Amino acid sequence: MRKICIINQKGGVGKTTTSINLAAGLSRNDKKVLLMDMDAQGNVAASLHYESGKDMYDLLIENAQIEECIRPLGKNLDIIPSRETLTKADAILSKKENSQFLLSEKLKKLKGYDYVIVDSSPSLSILNQNALIYCDEAFIPVATDYLSYDALKKMIEAIMTINHVFDTNTEITKIIPTLYDMRNKICKEYLDKMRNEFYDIISEPIRVNSKLKEAPKYGKSIFAYDIKSRGAKDYTQLVKSVINDENKFNSAESTDSVELKSAKKTAGASAS
Ligand SMILES: Nc1ncnc2c1ncn2[C@@H]1O[C@H](COP(=O)(O)OP(=O)(O)O)[C@@H](O)[C@H]1O
Ligand SMILES: [Mg+2]
Repeated sequence: MRKICIINQKGGVGKTTTSINLAAGLSRNDKKVLLMDMDAQGNVAASLHYESGKDMYDLLIENAQIEECIRPLGKNLDIIPSRETLTKADAILSKKENSQFLLSEKLKKLKGYDYVIVDSSPSLSILNQNALIYCDEAFIPVATDYLSYDALKKMIEAIMTINHVFDTNTEITKIIPTLYDMRNKICKEYLDKMRNEFYDIISEPIRVNSKLKEAPKYGKSIFAYDIKSRGAKDYTQLVKSVINDENKFNSAESTDSVELKSAKKTAGASAS
């Protein structure tokens, strides 16, 4: 089971768009996917026109069972949504000791998925720390311009710091250039720069495409909304490259080893 957090402390870089279309694309390739939202803006549910029942707040704070919070969204695709109540969870967890490990604790028995995709908020909040600690991998969507490049550097440092402080090993396994406009000199300059620096983990760029902006209005992934669009082509290519990486990054963990790992993380926290 690959557990992937889609993260960047910068807003508007395509985290939610990537989470939704990556999850939808993987599920269309017969992968069993759970899509979770750790952002109180609740953009995942809003983009998919999902009327939420129990959600991430209920799981983390109200002791709801995991089975109650997971809802089927389509073939091979389930969701744990969030809404504005998650802001309260953030405030509650910020005051609690060792609360960075709560999500890992709550999900330690989760199994039966090929992929867990976690959308996150533009911050380094306690909720995002929970997401990073739970996941084995981080994908960083990054727009192709100067400020976004600067934010990427800071995000990489932040992930390294979290790994160091909490004795975890979340690996950055994909950098995804987004909002790429090939007519724009700056976009090309920063795409080249990122390709040079991160040649082994950078994906092909996701180009600017208005269809990607329109799809959420209709509650659809880009594949359901317009399979012939540039956005669908680019996200198809990303999905393929993620599936290609399975040999490198898929940890075939049994439930036992998931429990052991989570216990190790908790031990690491109390030692620090
Ligand atoms: N490749 C793209 N082309 C055009 N619009 C995009 C693209 N990717 C994202 N968007 C739009 O940009 C805005 C921000 O994207 P979003 O995925 O919500 O970013 P984040 O989750 O990082 O804040 C949204 O309106 C989204 O529809
Ligand atoms: Mg978002």
